[in-house]
Amino acid sequence: MLVPGPGWWRGGPQLGTLGLWAALRAAAAPAAARRAHPARPYSPLERSPSNEPARKTPLKEWTLIVNPFGRLQARLPCDIAVRPLDPYHYPDSDRVLVTVSGVEGGSLDLDGIQVKYDEAEKQMAIVSDSIGYEASVEVKVPMKFDLNIRTSGTGCVKVQEAECDDCRIETEQGISIVQSVKSKKLHIQTKGGKVICLGTILGNTDIHASEKSTVTIDKLQGSSVNISTEDGLLKAKYLYTESSSLSSAAGDITLGSIHGDLTVHSKMGNITIDSLNGYLKASTYEGAVDVYVSQMGNVDLKSQKGSITIRVPSSLKAHLQLSGSKVDVNPEITLQEMKEVPKDNGITINGHMNQTSECEKWIKASAPSGTVHLRSQSWFQSLKLKGF
Ligand SMILES: *[C@@H]1O[C@H](CO)[C@@H](O)[C@H](O)[C@H]1NC(C)=O
Ligand SMILES: *[C@@H]1O[C@H](CO)[C@@H](O)[C@H](O)[C@H]1NC(C)=O
Ligand SMILES: *[C@@H]1O[C@H](CO)[C@@H](O)[C@H](O)[C@H]1NC(C)=O
Repeated sequence: MLVPGPGWWRGGPQLGTLGLWAALRAAAAPAAARRAHPARPYSPLERSPSNEPARKTPLKEWTLIVNPFGRLQARLPCDIAVRPLDPYHYPDSDRVLVTVSGVEGGSLDLDGIQVKYDEAEKQMAIVSDSIGYEASVEVKVPMKFDLNIRTSGTGCVKVQEAECDDCRIETEQGISIVQSVKSKKLHIQTKGGKVICLGTILGNTDIHASEKSTVTIDKLQGSSVNISTEDGLLKAKYLYTESSSLSSAAGDITLGSIHGDLTVHSKMGNITIDSLNGYLKASTYEGAVDVYVSQMGNVDLKSQKGSITIRVPSSLKAHLQLSGSKVDVNPEITLQEMKEVPKDNGITINGHMNQTSECEKWIKASAPSGTVHLRSQSWFQSLKLKGF
């Protein structure tokens, strides 16, 4: 029977687990050397060169039998990387493999880490206060495992290819990297570390990055997305959402191709959108706003102290209401039924572009202390300008 009793991972020969250990370290040194002490931290000298980055060497390993639909809870002061179990070696998806690595000759407290599985709770826990920030922990979990990972200090978190209901990551100064994650709910919180989303992220997403943390996203798709930074840049290449809300205090918000219904707010930062296909409400107090509206819902832009640039294809159909200390309409654009209304220290221009009766869409821009620019630009030009 393979199911281990409590504490089995702490050491001592375990007949039933030999096969697992062999599989786990199939690529490493001859298995016989380890057979007598499967869970003892073995000397780095026993290992064949591994492809670990830096000079870190695996120092201690565990294999646990788990429910494929359980969850991982990690509380660590060091780096942790989580990847799915190799389905070829583990077709039942019922193992968790944990490896702690460190620099050879370092002084890691390898006994100061608790690795255990609670069967009733279906919860795998990896917990340590004392292991030392130089350690790194690699965990392979069933693809569907929920993840709840918190690191302290500079501990970084990397999660690749998870497909779960709930994925929570919390760091202090450490970087969070999520790559190709599909989760009904993805929640990332950091107090100074970068957040990097690679590949496609699918699911309702909530990212809060405080202090100077930046958030960088390749492609994010989810019905509800909330992202906030304080002083750091918030950058997303592709965003497909039904409803998203992005905000920053001083950080710029720089977005590539956006589909959906989006609210963006920054106090001091600039807001730039390369291509908008949807509804947008963007406001900033001191920053500038620059948006290419390719196809649209309604667009409402405000900058209290800065300027606004709206770039549109000449075929766009819309009502416009542009209000600023100055309004500058590119001569290539003819506004129909244009009305200019002088206001306190500025002007408001109303008109339509290519208006037809069925078009109810509008663009409003208000920059009481700055200039509103309306420019015509083809989609290809907008791509070229961005160096695609
Ligand atoms: C985003 O914020 C809205 C409004 O506070 C909330 O209703 C929604 O559930 C949030 N979405 C996520 C994915 O956290
Ligand atoms: C914000 O935009 C304004 C106007 O385009 C520019 O002068 C300023 O340098 C930008 N700020 C940053 C931080 O990019
Ligand atoms: C829209 O109006 C512009 C002039 O502002 C004109 O050049 C363009 O051909 C019109 N496009 C359509 C689709 O009517």
